[in-house]
Amino acid sequence: MNRFFADKTVLLGITGSIAVFKACELVSRMRELGARVHCALTRSGAEMIQPATLEALSGNPVITEMFGTRTGHTISHIAMTRQADLIMVAPATANILAKAAQGIGDDWLSTALLAARSPVLFAPAMNTFMYTHAATQANIALLKERGVFFVGPAPGRLACGEEGPGRMAEVPELLEAAAQALHPQKDLASLRVLITSGPNFEPIDAARYIGNRSSGKMGYALALEALCRGAAVCVVSGPATQPPPVAAEIVSVQTAREMYNAVLERLPGCDILIGAAAVADYRIALPDPGKIKRSDEPMTLHLVPNPDILAEAAAKKKAGQRFVGFAAETENAVEKAREKLQRKQLDMIVANLIGGERCAIGSDCGDAWILTAGGVSEAYPQVEKATLAKYIFDHLVSG
Ligand code: C5P
Repeated sequence: MNRFFADKTVLLGITGSIAVFKACELVSRMRELGARVHCALTRSGAEMIQPATLEALSGNPVITEMFGTRTGHTISHIAMTRQADLIMVAPATANILAKAAQGIGDDWLSTALLAARSPVLFAPAMNTFMYTHAATQANIALLKERGVFFVGPAPGRLACGEEGPGRMAEVPELLEAAAQALHPQKDLASLRVLITSGPNFEPIDAARYIGNRSSGKMGYALALEALCRGAAVCVVSGPATQPPPVAAEIVSVQTAREMYNAVLERLPGCDILIGAAAVADYRIALPDPGKIKRSDEPMTLHLVPNPDILAEAAAKKKAGQRFVGFAAETENAVEKAREKLQRKQLDMIVANLIGGERCAIGSDCGDAWILTAGGVSEAYPQVEKATLAKYIFDHLVSG
């Protein structure tokens, strides 16, 4: 995530919704990710949260008024919009959406939105009837037509006690949407990327399974990178600790055979297949439908091999499709990866070192090498998974 926010300036408009409490965490997460955050509070926003709170979280003065201020800070809306890489309004009320759609500039934030030159992202938060009102829907449609981005709202129980769409998106979703809006280069637009991610759990009995330590972080980084570059992304994910980005289509599976079926079903519609999952090579031949009882006798589990998803997909490959694999190795990673690249008929393979102190499994970074069928061989020592995802797509785009 850092790669999308590092050194970026985000102007965060906060309007009068009870969802302002999520804005606090949003500011703090964006700063952690390396962004400079400037907050602008509307008058009703300032009824919900004290500028001092946002000032402390953002490390910057909070803009509250167009002329003369309660806090003593006046910041030109033109200068600020020129500095901003992204203008995000979270929470965004029906009122600010209406003003933005109609071009009304009657306070600092609405005027800044009129002067905007950077991408604009709204996270609506309001009562269901306000959200579904024809006027609000028409304003949203008009803003979308002009290229404005939206995230949420989600359905659920609202602060007013009613149920329905209107809850502001949660912080991880807000960050993903901001990352997408912050990424100008859409060089994967119109491409469909299918990614396998995470571990497999192979049942032993009703309670136990065989699993592995894959976290799903690499699959998540690949999916987010592809989404930010404009691709349509589907992630077939095992039970990972890091769930895939919400903007991706997510197919949740447990076993290697479920993953295999999900991939083969979607294979004809994809342009790029990336096998980032740590697929279980074996499964229990006959899992016990009950719970195996403890005994003092040694026990043998009878394992049978699972299908090799990538190799079988490669056999069905159509012209123009590109397939990428990963090779997690404890030693001789590059040689073993090159052998797998050829055996599985892949276009690219990414070798990772596992085991030891610099183990890539579960970690945010690791030693990696990108090898392509065309002869590219590049080493990336201790590279962050998000950065590695960028390099993988850079090679695919240029190759
Ligand atoms: O396990 P192995 O080192 O052969 O994995 C190499 C690549 O093949 C990885 O991308 C992995 O996701 C994929 N794979 C697969 N089906 C398997 C085993 C591995 O798609 N049964």
